[in-house]
Parts: sequence; structure tokens; C-alpha cells
Amino acid sequence: MNEFNEKLLNQITKLNPVVWQNKKKETSDQALSKLDITYTDIIDAAERLNRFRPLISNLFPETVNGIIESPLLAIPAMKKAMENLYQKDIGGRLYLKCDSHLKIAGSIKARGGIYEVLKHAETLAMAAGILSPEDNYAKLAQPQFKDFFSRYKIAVGSTGNLGLSIGIISSALGFQVTVHMSADAKEWKKKLLRSKGVTVIEYSEDYSKAVAEGRKQCAADPDCYFIDDENSKDLFLGYSVAALRLLDQLNKASITVDDRHPLYVYLPCGVGGAPGGITFGLKHIFKDNVNCYFVEPTHSPCMILGLLTGKYDQLHVREYGIDNITEADGLAVGSPSKLVSHIAEKLIDGIYTISDDELFKLLALLNDTEGIKIEPSAAAGLLGPTLLDTSQNATHICWATGGLLLPDEIYSDMYHKGKGLLNSIKTGINR
Ligand SMILES: Cc1ncc(COP(=O)(O)O)c(C=O)c1O
Repeated sequence: MNEFNEKLLNQITKLNPVVWQNKKKETSDQALSKLDITYTDIIDAAERLNRFRPLISNLFPETVNGIIESPLLAIPAMKKAMENLYQKDIGGRLYLKCDSHLKIAGSIKARGGIYEVLKHAETLAMAAGILSPEDNYAKLAQPQFKDFFSRYKIAVGSTGNLGLSIGIISSALGFQVTVHMSADAKEWKKKLLRSKGVTVIEYSEDYSKAVAEGRKQCAADPDCYFIDDENSKDLFLGYSVAALRLLDQLNKASITVDDRHPLYVYLPCGVGGAPGGITFGLKHIFKDNVNCYFVEPTHSPCMILGLLTGKYDQLHVREYGIDNITEADGLAVGSPSKLVSHIAEKLIDGIYTISDDELFKLLALLNDTEGIKIEPSAAAGLLGPTLLDTSQNATHICWATGGLLLPDEIYSDMYHKGKGLLNSIKTGINR
């Protein structure tokens, strides 16, 4: 490891926020050409989601035509407030990608989680000869299909939001579903899942343990399908479809992305699947005109530690004296995805880390300026535009990743915590 990375590692272990630019990044064409997963796989995933639209529309009428997508919103008042708070001009325009308000499961994890369950259901039904690609998939909501799926089990390990997405869609289709929840998972998420007939198993350890236990228990049962957040190609591809949808939204908003109009995207990172899949899709579409940054809590910096040390296997933040305890429950992950680490190594532009206090401030500021409710994990992407020097032609997209289902009374406590921190800056107690 070179001297610069040694110093960075030292800052990370002291829990100080850092910004890391990826020196091993290759051109998008070079990096993408080395991967087994291709653009055709993204299109295949998008087409599969299209086939399921009649079913999704039937089961979840809150979606628009069975498409699970979120708005891209300009947030100019937030931009002004951030410039003021951080005493820094942000070059270019600022947008929020509101996966915080994705229908059905209220987080970015709905993209991958729902996709993988739908793919599994399609595979089972086709193998049984009761479904073909030309069928209207709305028929999968009929009682005989629910009956068919109820013979099969689905399991997943989660810090909360992946469990919500997989639990909700699996039980709607009729599967027997078990979610193995880490200690970080919030009580309201477990309660919501149980109310939908999902079996929730709780662990007093972190996410790695919940995943390992889920994997082990499922392996012993041939009818059980384990959704492996640490390694799944299907989850990854489900997330990647967001890039096609974003292209459409940017076109509709007449936002140009080219070598004179760069796009900057800030993606909260837990195990890495969601930000990895989206980066993969975006780099295929926008090539080197898109700059993708992952964001991790200072207490859970597993991806940056993996990329700095080259240790993707078996790495856990605790080996560096870091506790993996953060209010950003979706990002409370101690070991990075191996699949994503290998891809991210040459593809992403960088990573920054953020403290929990900063998350709460940004969460409150977004509500004050734009009236948008997000959870702490989802606030992580908001800091990005204040950390880089970019041209006035730049477009910044902060990916807000969760919040819709957060109960109001819990959100209210978070908001007031953030407000308290912001007020203490004004009165000079802090900063
Ligand atoms: C709200 C939220 N944001 C971001 C993420 C990060 O996704 P990943 O763990 O795939 O990196 C998660 C993961 O659960 C999440 O719940």
C-alpha cells in the first residue's frame, strides 16, 4: 500500500470522514469489457420487468402501470441551504433521485429484491409448464398460482430494507418467506413484515451473521431459494435497470450528459449491490461522462477498506477496530460484496465516508428546504456535491435510497435530532 493510502487507512480507523478518489479506475469501456455481466443482461432484466407489469399493476395498484420507479426531482432550495451550511459553492444543478419513495417497499432495495423474486417465480412456473413468456403475467395472481408458489420457500439475510422488499413481494406471490434480520434492523420493519405473514428470525449479531445463518438454513432444504445479497448477480441486474430509467428521465427533463456536461452520482453503499448495479448500468450508458461515488458511514466503511487493502474475502471492519454501529441501518454492513468489490475496483470514481451526525443534519435540512422525508441511510448521498470541485455545467444526482415506509413518529425523532445539530451550529456550539 502506498503512503497516501496508508494515511487514508489511518484516518478511516480513527473514524474520521474521508474522500477517496479511485486511482485504479479504468475507462468505462476497458473496465466493462472485462466483466462476464454485459449490457444485454441489463436489457434482459428490463424486459423481464416489463413482462411482469400486468401482475405488479394487479397486486400493487399504487404503481403506475406496474412500473416500480421513482421521480427525479430538482432540489434548488436544498442546494442553496447546503452551500450556506458547508460554505462551499456547488457547481452545476442538484437533483434528488427519490428511491426513498419507490412504491411497494419504500427503498432502493425494492429494485433488486423484487426483481430476483419475480425471476425465481418465472423460472419455477416455466419449469412446471404453467407459464410462457407470451402469457399475460397477470394470471400469476390467480389462486392456483398462489397455491403453486406456496410449496416453495424463499429466504434472505437483511439489515431491514432488502428483507422488506423480498418479504412483501414473496408473500404477495404466495411463497413461504423467511427474513433473517441483523441486530441493526429496526423494530418497525420486523413488525411490518410479520403483519404480512413473513417469518422474521432475529439475530443479536450484525448483517454478516444474518446472511450466513440464512444461507446455511436454506442450503439444507431443496425447496428453499436463498437470495444472497453478498453475491447475487440477479439482485445486481435488478438494480442496474435503474440506469435505463434514469436515461429516460434525464432526456425528458432535457438534461444533457456529454464530455462538457458531466454527471455526478452519489450512491449510499452497504454491501455494495445497489450502488454497484446502478453504477454498472450508468457506466454502460454514459461511459466516462458519468462519475459514480459510493458513500459509507464512518462506522461501517467496508467497501473502502476492501478496495484500499485489496482484501475482499473475509474482510470485516472489526479487524480495523471499527464497530459497524450506525443509525444508517441500511448501510450497517461489515463485509463488502465480493462480486461488487471486483467490479467497483476498476469502475467507480471514488468513495467518501460520512458521520451519523452529518446524516441527521442533511435529513432535517432536506425536509426544511424541500419537504421530503428520508431515512438516515438515504441522506448519505447528499453530502457528495459539497466535496468535489465541479464545473457549472455539471449535473449532480444524490440517490435518496429509503424513507417512504418510515413511521412518522420515528421520523419526527430523527428530524428533531438533525434540527438540534443544525441549531447548535447557528448558535456556535458546534463547528
Ligand atoms: C436505505 C438503503 N440505502 C442504501 C442501501 C445500500 O444497498 P447495498 O447494501 O446493496 O449496498 C441499503 C441497503 O439495505 C438501504 O437499505
